[in-house]
Amino acid sequence: MSRVAYVNGRFVPHGEAAVHIEDRGFQFADGVYEVWAVLGGKLGDAAGHFERLERSLAELQIAPPMSRAALTVVLRETVRRNRVREGLVYLQVTRGVAPRDHAFPAPGTPVSVVASAHAVDRAAMEKRAEQGAAVITVPETRWARCDIKTVALLPNVLAKQQARAAGAVEAWFVDELGLITEGASSNAWIIDKSGALRTRDTQANILRGITRKTLMTVLAREGFKVEERPFSLEDAKEAREAFITGAGTLVLPIVKINGQPVADGKVGPVAKRLRQLYIEEARGTAV
Ligand SMILES: Cc1ncc(COP(=O)(O)O)c(C=O)c1O
Repeated sequence: MSRVAYVNGRFVPHGEAAVHIEDRGFQFADGVYEVWAVLGGKLGDAAGHFERLERSLAELQIAPPMSRAALTVVLRETVRRNRVREGLVYLQVTRGVAPRDHAFPAPGTPVSVVASAHAVDRAAMEKRAEQGAAVITVPETRWARCDIKTVALLPNVLAKQQARAAGAVEAWFVDELGLITEGASSNAWIIDKSGALRTRDTQANILRGITRKTLMTVLAREGFKVEERPFSLEDAKEAREAFITGAGTLVLPIVKINGQPVADGKVGPVAKRLRQLYIEEARGTAV
């Protein structure tokens, strides 16, 4: 089955999809993106991702390319044309194409909008979740606006590659105080040695994960108490359980940190339950 991508108003064969060399996303990483999980052919946590997209665009003073309703049509159509039932849909909006100059281009320069979708092997992902995954830690080297979901991801790319090379799925950034900020493409959570469910507060320099946010709602409903409080690598090493959240991983139990097992090195009951609860919620609310 041939894949197609959306590029500035047209669906084109994936292999031929291209933007201009003077696209500011290419030249300056001057753009933002969003990623939705595709669950049963529908968009997971749709509104949350749209809200964050609108906020990211506003923070960078990039005009929204179209209404939320119109973007929903584009994303749904991208999913449909690629026949994705389980997967991810990616949207990128940049400040458009203009002669290379750091300052913003002339007002009215059209933004560039690109969308693509691909399928994931949900069964293989379930298996990985049952076994649990490994993370490594790396020094925090990112800029001070990680709350904006920009396409400037070089530190995340380098961290993720380091994780891959170490046989881990994720790299957790550790700030200058020794506290975990988040993963290269996920938020970090632990159940600490006293049994408290902890994840870093969003006042910190992290991305406000939409999976994190929805899980918070589910947790409140189910009567779990969450502490939005940073934790150190030491806390994580002594934790009862650990897991990550993100559109790509949903809720993924972590059983190893820097090669050392978390507790007995097996997937913990809480992380396992939270994965089920989150998936139920996201499937139930997907649009
Ligand atoms: C740096 C970072 N943190 C957290 C997340 C998780 O965010 P979400 O749950 O909205 O996918 C992502 C997702 O890509 C990310 O890139």
